Amino acid sequence: MRYGYFDDAAREYVITRPDTPLPWINYLGQEDYFAMLSNTGGGYSFYRDARLRRLIRYRYNNVPADSGGRALYVRMSDGDFWSPAWQPVRKSLDAYECRVGLGYTRITSTYRSIQCEATFFVPLGQPLEVWRVKLTNQSLSPVELQLFSLVEFCLWDAWDDQTNFQRNFNTGEVEVDEAAGVIYHKTEYRERRNHFAYFACSAPLAGFDTQREAFLGAYRGFDRPAAVEECRCRNSIAHGWSPIGAHQVNVALEPGQSREVIFVLGYAENPRDEKFMVDPHPQPLPLSEGGEAAPFSLAGRRAGDEGQPRLNTSRVQPIIARYTDPAALDAAQADLRQHWDKLLNVYHVATPDEHTNRMVNIWNPYQVMATFNLSRSASLYESGIGRGMGFRDSNQDLLGCVHLLPDRARERLLDLAATQLPNGGAYHQYQPLTKRGNDAVGSGFNDDPLWLVLAVAAYLKETGDGSILDELVPYDLKAAGNLKAAGNLKAAGDNKIGSETPLYEHLQRAIRYTLDRLGPHGLPQIGHADWNDCLNLNCFSSEPGESFQTHSDEGDSTKAESVFIGGLFVLAAREMAGIARHFPHTDEADVYECHANAMAQTVLKHGWDGEWFLRAYDRVGARVGSRECEEGRIFIEPQGMCVMAGIGLESGEAQHALDSVHEQLATPHGIVLHQPPYTRYYLNLGEISSYPPGYKENGGIFCHTNPWVMIAEARLGHGDRALDYYLRINPSVREAMSDVHRCEPYVYAQMIAGRDAPTHGEAKNSWLTGTAAWNLVAVTQWIIGIRPTFAGLQIAPVIPANWPGFTAKRVFRGVTYHITIKRAGDAVSLVVDGHAVQGDVVPLPTDGRKQVAVQVTLS
Ligand code: BGC
Ligand code: NOJ
Repeated sequence: MRYGYFDDAAREYVITRPDTPLPWINYLGQEDYFAMLSNTGGGYSFYRDARLRRLIRYRYNNVPADSGGRALYVRMSDGDFWSPAWQPVRKSLDAYECRVGLGYTRITSTYRSIQCEATFFVPLGQPLEVWRVKLTNQSLSPVELQLFSLVEFCLWDAWDDQTNFQRNFNTGEVEVDEAAGVIYHKTEYRERRNHFAYFACSAPLAGFDTQREAFLGAYRGFDRPAAVEECRCRNSIAHGWSPIGAHQVNVALEPGQSREVIFVLGYAENPRDEKFMVDPHPQPLPLSEGGEAAPFSLAGRRAGDEGQPRLNTSRVQPIIARYTDPAALDAAQADLRQHWDKLLNVYHVATPDEHTNRMVNIWNPYQVMATFNLSRSASLYESGIGRGMGFRDSNQDLLGCVHLLPDRARERLLDLAATQLPNGGAYHQYQPLTKRGNDAVGSGFNDDPLWLVLAVAAYLKETGDGSILDELVPYDLKAAGNLKAAGNLKAAGDNKIGSETPLYEHLQRAIRYTLDRLGPHGLPQIGHADWNDCLNLNCFSSEPGESFQTHSDEGDSTKAESVFIGGLFVLAAREMAGIARHFPHTDEADVYECHANAMAQTVLKHGWDGEWFLRAYDRVGARVGSRECEEGRIFIEPQGMCVMAGIGLESGEAQHALDSVHEQLATPHGIVLHQPPYTRYYLNLGEISSYPPGYKENGGIFCHTNPWVMIAEARLGHGDRALDYYLRINPSVREAMSDVHRCEPYVYAQMIAGRDAPTHGEAKNSWLTGTAAWNLVAVTQWIIGIRPTFAGLQIAPVIPANWPGFTAKRVFRGVTYHITIKRAGDAVSLVVDGHAVQGDVVPLPTDGRKQVAVQVTLS
């Protein structure tokens, strides 16, 4: 069952009913300002950091789902009212359509012959969101409507906002420039903050509110605000409690007539010495209606600043003027479109499979950008308060988008490396606003540093920009314990200065980190956990509330070993050898090859279980992921990773391992993480066994790992199997069963319930998952087979037997390659601009050509 359809020409998914199984969201914004927006208008916005600079409040796990955040109301002349995005009023609409587009969402609905088209987007490079609301009278009589807007402001720090009410209910402050239609939210601006939010309206106001209870009325929800019902905003000024921004606009329409009203919600900062303006004519505090004491005061012009220095709005006024001007907005929307045209032009395919084309050409790169921007910080499943930017997560996200934005990838790589410790390890997470490592989690996840090597290698292959290796990057000395005495963040941060080394040395130390931490079998020690955060072999937690990963992580943690990290090390050390060989460290290339080969041998010797790769050895040397285990006998991660790394390709283990995956782990909904799932809690394994069987890391289809198996199959030349696995989790394929899958049909979810779960096939945790980057890598670089290498673009498709060929376009280092593939067999032969070329790598043009035609025959 579907809830909409793909409109590929418009690059949109069109949701045709508002009551989707879950809120289906879109992300607006690409750089500093981000808005999560659902198909019913819900969600929240923030500047850079979902925890520290949140603009609007959102209540997770609320009932009804996804209410709050933003709202629009249209009131008819007879008092009936509705919400154009369906929520929060939820009145049955005569028509509804939500177009989820690239960087924008347009919701069009009709109720009693009034059509409302609301387009939401974030203009490129601007810290603000625009709501363009167009009302059209489709009836035969004139109408007098009232349009109301609403945002509920968050008091900036989302954690405090949800917890510290004894303070919060006193701090809220606003100012209103009624004539200009602008509501300013300035909580805590009087003291340490120099930033504020504004909510502007293009039309003359019939009223406004800034105190939530004044607008809603006591004991009412967002679905039935008293101000809307009574058609009368109170012009309230918030003093503490819950500041909101609400505008009321009168809209009279003749039959057939339309009118556009624009709302702009934005974030602004002032220099610290220019925070305030002096008001030459301070307004007396107006009396409330009827003279009685009210919890809010009535406003005159620029209310809220009585007796106070006035917020300096001079910097934002021109911005507001610009983004409430329809012509400027048309231009901003055109820019946004061009931005995506440019990004999506980098890689384009026309294969025989529409699901592959749609995901590769539109939605998968779109999702990868969201993961690049937000890591795992803010989604409907990530509260925005917790995880910040993950070290392993962000490095992997980068693999999927380095070709789209090499400059931003470069900056990100340097930020990530700066959270490395001098010993080569890394902070597991950092806060995007401060770029500082997160002390609550610390370091000691032993796979972390190796992902940086993979990400830097991907950047170098894409761009050829070896200068990044010479960039001087500091280490985080605080985490290393060097600054225990200093004891505060600032001192620690300052002391990073002086620790800088070239990025290349960060990579050397990352590799060394593993080599310095080998266990009894010569395999890498696992530390708190490897990629699978829930396999906790050094932590023995028996009380609720303790961290599965770090609680009592003491004693001898040098014994538990990870075969997965063994595979990852081989992959990373081989990349490191490639980096050394192609940039001026040639003498080291052989050293890294040797380390890789030695580890590959160790994995085959101690990490092979007979029919598949083992998962790990626990702290007492017992095997995890072995046929001798009662539960958790075979895991997907080491099969995918070891084969990707090239372990056991010639000696047959690779083939064997993938056959075992096919027999034991593959389901119609994707490949599960392990089998059998754990049916009870294992103190020695940790969080993995805390999930009910079939969910998350306990035997769920943890989609991130599936593309590793696709790549592994491609490495063995198995195009049919690789594509088959790809299509099992491809969101566009799964769209037809949206009632089972339930998450958005245009992006990947982290997890689909596994075969042991009662809800097999149901997805959760959509959007922010490494699944996005890895699937794009698997399908574009390994199945379609067009991948950057240090020497040029390699073309080595491993496609299913029933594909006669395909065409593709790839922009690589400033050159556009037009590629045509014709299939007869499997071996690649290339003709480049009419000349036969040996091997499967297209050399970079040396004569300045910018367009190159490549004919590929698989024979
Ligand atoms: C989740 C993991 C996640 C971890 C982060 C666990 O509860 O299952 O997917 O990586 O939390 O700490
Ligand atoms: C999600 C986390 O963000 C990621 O870092 C981890 O690898 C997976 N869960 C698996 O546990």
